[in-house]
Amino acid sequence: MSDNSQVIIFDTTLRDGEQALSASLTVKEKLQIAQALDRLGVDIIEAGFPVSSPGDFESVRTIAEHMQHARVCALSRAVPKDIDVAAESLKAADAFRIHTFLSTSTIHVKDKLRRSYDDVVEMGVRAVKHARQYTDDVEFSCEDAGRTPIDNLCRMVEAAIDAGATTVNIPDTVGYTVPSEFGNIIATLFNRVPNIDKAVISVHCHDDLGMSVANSIAAIQAGARQVEGTINGIGERAGNCALEEIAMILKTRADLLGVETKLNHTEIARTSKLVSQLCNMPIQPNKAVVGTNAFSHSSGIHQDGMLKNKNTYEIMTPESIGLGKKALNLTSRSGRAAVKSHMENLGYTEQDYDLDTLYQSFLQLADRKGQVFDYDLEALMFFNNLKE
Ligand code: KIV
Ligand code: ZN
Repeated sequence: MSDNSQVIIFDTTLRDGEQALSASLTVKEKLQIAQALDRLGVDIIEAGFPVSSPGDFESVRTIAEHMQHARVCALSRAVPKDIDVAAESLKAADAFRIHTFLSTSTIHVKDKLRRSYDDVVEMGVRAVKHARQYTDDVEFSCEDAGRTPIDNLCRMVEAAIDAGATTVNIPDTVGYTVPSEFGNIIATLFNRVPNIDKAVISVHCHDDLGMSVANSIAAIQAGARQVEGTINGIGERAGNCALEEIAMILKTRADLLGVETKLNHTEIARTSKLVSQLCNMPIQPNKAVVGTNAFSHSSGIHQDGMLKNKNTYEIMTPESIGLGKKALNLTSRSGRAAVKSHMENLGYTEQDYDLDTLYQSFLQLADRKGQVFDYDLEALMFFNNLKE
């Protein structure tokens, strides 16, 4: 990788995150989240697993058409049909990534795939080569890498890179490892895989033991330069690595970690709120970075300290994640000025939308819904603009 101080942020809210929801998101809702991720500045958006359902295919296709900055990616198993369908769903984008994966741990290889390890390596190599026919941006994941014997993992990573993988992902699929152990896996890959500098090493940690963020940070310290995760940490079982936490750790502890991302941190709060509301996944009040209590100071001693010098108890500011002054509630009694002021707080100017059109659709929604939230306004703006 050229710039070793940059960490690539790979968002899988719409794939690994969405697959764990009790009710699927609609294509429009997914597009709305993708737009928010694009504004947040994530590098890669994994928009879905197109072969898994027509709905997933359609979401990936729509998102691929609309992203401004982020590169869109689709997941596929390591089989030609999945890869072909992924490529088809992505073709509207100027450039895209195909992400193909295959299990490498002994238990998965033996009991799930029921193949020899030689076969698995060959299958992985074939999948990467097949995907490379469609794009020069191919990611290969060694599923359950956290429990894969290190010799086998080194062999698979080397073969995938030789076959043309430009990113190799090391998932802790079942959230089993601890930070020193996971950091060591990454360090060993850097020491033992001869062609490792030809690819970006990525990590994808699950949170079964509450260590996904710590494991990802340990991996960055060992040389990984892509982190995969989801907004608010939503995902399979206990979830995925929470990207807003990674973002604020890398920013707040840049002194120690010495790497940066291209994220617009002030978009964190509203992206988090949007994902929580559309996914119907409330955020626990004491959740790091985005919980409602994350910037509240309750005890008298803390409040006293804060009044004297905010740095006594505040290591990052609410403004740094985009939390600003409290806005007025929006209901059918609100006027144009209130709608305009919410839009300004959201960062939009009247060049981005037509106030009269927006206000009319706002009133219709407010009549039906009672309170209208910022994410509703954004959706109205977005779909009014699409109609034009
Ligand atoms: O957790 C996992 O291993 C995955 C892969 C598909 C990357 O989600
Ligand atoms: Zn996962």
